[in-house]
Amino acid sequence: MKKSNGIKKVNAAVFISGTGSNLKNLIRFSLKKNSKFNINLIISNNIKAKGLKYAKEFRIKKKIVNYKNISSAEKSILIILKKSKIRLICLAGFMKILSKNFLKEFNGPVVNIHPSLLPKYKGLNTHQRAIDANEKFSGCTVHYVSSKLDSGKIILQKKVKILKKDNLNSLTKKVLKQEHLLYPKALNKIYSNL
Ligand code: GRF
Repeated sequence: MKKSNGIKKVNAAVFISGTGSNLKNLIRFSLKKNSKFNINLIISNNIKAKGLKYAKEFRIKKKIVNYKNISSAEKSILIILKKSKIRLICLAGFMKILSKNFLKEFNGPVVNIHPSLLPKYKGLNTHQRAIDANEKFSGCTVHYVSSKLDSGKIILQKKVKILKKDNLNSLTKKVLKQEHLLYPKALNKIYSNL
């Protein structure tokens, strides 16, 4: 916990594998007065992740982890989390599954954002699957991470209407816009007692 402007904030790490629009949005939110968290560390399994550029832009420590061997990857992540005094992990498009052991070893909440109304459409290609199934609604969910894929306790969810004219691209954009509103809100909710 760190005091900035007299407000207690939780040290968080964001794990990414790709674009990092949620990462950028969380960083921006974290700089606001009413944010309950700071982003102190960015972790990626992918050296080519576009989102890594935000480390430089916002002067945040980054660590790229070689995932050839999962157990040594997780060990090195746990070490840097400890060094950086991280108390909260936010997964944002991180394409690796964290092991049971990792979740046990890390002493704090691990949270993920998923682009569907869980428990519907766990896993990948959620938008296309929702369109193909003629769903009237899709959306996004922020949830705690458990050892089962996309199955932990839900923190917040936001519905998005699927229109007849929607396609993969338009639905992805619409949901992502809501993700950017939902994720910071959900993180602040976890720490509403601070
Ligand atoms: C988001 O749709 C998120 O819900 C999913 O992966 C995507 C990541 O997008 N888990 P970005 O890298 O944050 O732009």
